[in-house]
Amino acid sequence: MTSPAFGFPKNFIWGAATAPHQVEGNNIASDWWAREHSPRTDVSEPSGDACDSYNRYGEDIKLLAESGLTMYRFGIEWARIEPAEGCFSKAQLLHYRRMIDTCRERGVEPMVTLYHFSMPLWFAAKGGWSRPDALEKFERYVRYVLQILDDVTWICTINEPNMVALTQGGTQGTDFIAASLPAPDPVISKALVSAHHMARGVIKEQLPESKVGWTIACQAFHAVPGCEKEMEEYQYPREDYFTKEGAGDDFIGVQAYLRTFIGKNGPVPISDAAERTLTGWEYFPPALGIAIRHTWEVAGHTPIFITENGLATNDDRRRIDYTFDALADVHEAMDDGIAVLGYLHWSLLDNYEWGSFRPTFGLVGWDKKTFERQPKPSLGWLGDISRTHMVAHPYR
Ligand code: BGC
Repeated sequence: MTSPAFGFPKNFIWGAATAPHQVEGNNIASDWWAREHSPRTDVSEPSGDACDSYNRYGEDIKLLAESGLTMYRFGIEWARIEPAEGCFSKAQLLHYRRMIDTCRERGVEPMVTLYHFSMPLWFAAKGGWSRPDALEKFERYVRYVLQILDDVTWICTINEPNMVALTQGGTQGTDFIAASLPAPDPVISKALVSAHHMARGVIKEQLPESKVGWTIACQAFHAVPGCEKEMEEYQYPREDYFTKEGAGDDFIGVQAYLRTFIGKNGPVPISDAAERTLTGWEYFPPALGIAIRHTWEVAGHTPIFITENGLATNDDRRRIDYTFDALADVHEAMDDGIAVLGYLHWSLLDNYEWGSFRPTFGLVGWDKKTFERQPKPSLGWLGDISRTHMVAHPYR
């Protein structure tokens, strides 16, 4: 079978994404670091040096730029900027400023995430997003960070608030270690919405030219026949509530990996016969197209930016297969009139997948002893797409 090639508009943006705790290493003032080193830890291994991207970001941005990609989405780590309550680090702020400058020097457009799951331990220890003063503390951090964002166009306030509300729901004090995946805590959901609206307001006031949005974990919900009502009830607090709150932003970030079937009693396990990725998720490239179409409707035609999509695999050819099929659906959605501004692959690097390094999502691997970067063929393939605006499958 040969797959047809298809073109994307010349102003469509191609890039890759990372998150600070997952790549930088030694994020020692964060709640995640404490969780990893707790005697009661629920994670299989600690993040440690991660990919040492805190020191090697220059090489990482260079690789991204040389491949042909033109956007790097990375995060600023609140736990580094404010390691103790009220104690702000100018040196850390300047570190992130250097990352922005490095992007610019390489002709790479930065997209900066202000909050990507990890938070300062002092903030988590007193309830995290359920603290009565959560908004005030987050606002102080956002205003501090804005000092270095004056020429940054693309800003994500909060990564996947719906996942944050699920994973932090029910956690109290430092007992977040015991957190499972309960229904989202409505207090936390509301706090995150207020935090997003506050941050968007503050940023737009100071940087009216910036493009601000937040990113949603899109789960491509499917109803088991006869369970449509159950699906809607399940989906609303876990996804649509947050998507609606992003309506009217400059963009809404779609992050899609998988689909979820909902039956009478909630999620239904995927079939044993399904191909699975290293995270145990179903291999399902159509997730992205479904997510785009759903988000477009729920967010009232807010322009979409694909801020994450990819899969954990040791087989880089499968990464290309997955991405090719996902992009074919993006192309079709755009043909149907949906505004999609760009595509950022998750992830630039094999990274710390919240508890383990085993699931490898990267376009670039690295040597476990030396940290030497090892670009995979998928990086060059995606970079060529960015240069030529044409998507072709290399071996189908
Ligand atoms: C998150 C990333 C994560 C990825 C793959 C997204 O939910 O934003 O931090 O690594 O999915 O699990």
